[in-house]
Amino acid sequence: LTQDIMDWTVILNHNVADDEYADVEWDNLGFGIVPTDYIYIMKCSKDNNFEGGQLCRYGNIQLSPAAAVLSYGQGIYEGTKVYRKEDGRLLMFRPDENAIRMRIGAERMCMPSPSIHQFVNAIKQIALANKRWVPPTGKGSLYIRPILIGSGPALGLAPAPEYTFLVYASPVCNYFKEGFAALNLYVEDEYDRASRGGTGGVKSITNYAPVLKAMTRAKNRGFSDVLYLDSVNNKFVEEVSSCNVFIVKDNVISTPPAATTILAGITRKSVIEIAGDHGYQVEERSIGVNELMEADEVFCTGTAVGVAPVGSITYKHTRKEFKTGIDAICPILYSTLMGIKTGIIEDNKGWVIVI
Ligand code: COI
Repeated sequence: LTQDIMDWTVILNHNVADDEYADVEWDNLGFGIVPTDYIYIMKCSKDNNFEGGQLCRYGNIQLSPAAAVLSYGQGIYEGTKVYRKEDGRLLMFRPDENAIRMRIGAERMCMPSPSIHQFVNAIKQIALANKRWVPPTGKGSLYIRPILIGSGPALGLAPAPEYTFLVYASPVCNYFKEGFAALNLYVEDEYDRASRGGTGGVKSITNYAPVLKAMTRAKNRGFSDVLYLDSVNNKFVEEVSSCNVFIVKDNVISTPPAATTILAGITRKSVIEIAGDHGYQVEERSIGVNELMEADEVFCTGTAVGVAPVGSITYKHTRKEFKTGIDAICPILYSTLMGIKTGIIEDNKGWVIVI
């Protein structure tokens, strides 16, 4: 990326004792940045091949002021979590799915992307290099953030002449300040999240800043987050700012189809499969906001969010409360997914990679 960073490159010694932990208050983790030891950087040469990936000391990066990502938002990112098993080994969850999604997103954003092997290898390296930052079992996970940006200069609007793939990590626990308590969502009626044919279905960095206004307003009014409707009819359920959404009615689970306006969440996909394994009927179909407000149960899914129950939704001055707690389906899906991710439940799906 820059000579400075290349100069920081070190030969890593992975033989860190398994019981060596970073100095973190593990019981007070939320979802904020905790700088760790290493980042991973790989650049794309002129022939669109990524090569020379390496671990570098965690620190600021240097970028051309004309980098395409800065003016034109040419960038995508991913999110995945690594858990520590009680025996000290680390568990990655479906990193190949993130790799595939990054490739799809890169294609949409006119960017070359790392191969699946390169991507998964980078996740593995960053997890091992930052092992002392992986929370003890039961205290959270190491959230890993791979980013792909147009780092080369572009003054006129054009794809960047150079790309950088970088990965950093931070120990995290609950995403929402509510912790495990149910969320109170607000159905946004002024701002849209995604438009048909836009980039809402990929993890473009350009999807996220536009939700800040509505999200901040809702949080200031005491809500946990915002739920978006489609931008054409203002009628169909799409996503929450940071996660996918599911409803349950008469024990049938439904979620809007992943499309150009809805992200194909990896937790979403996993939860659909787990729900099917538990014998639930699962439908991927359009859900009108009126149907949402008549659901028995609502929950959200996402890598950062996990599987989070929704206690209430407010739409046009009407507040509807939903079933939560032990009678609900959400806790079954949550505990099964978490069990697989943390190695408590045997993974017979090939989702978990032990490193
Ligand atoms: C994730 O769930 O990993 C995301 O990237 C969502 C983000 C808003 C935290």
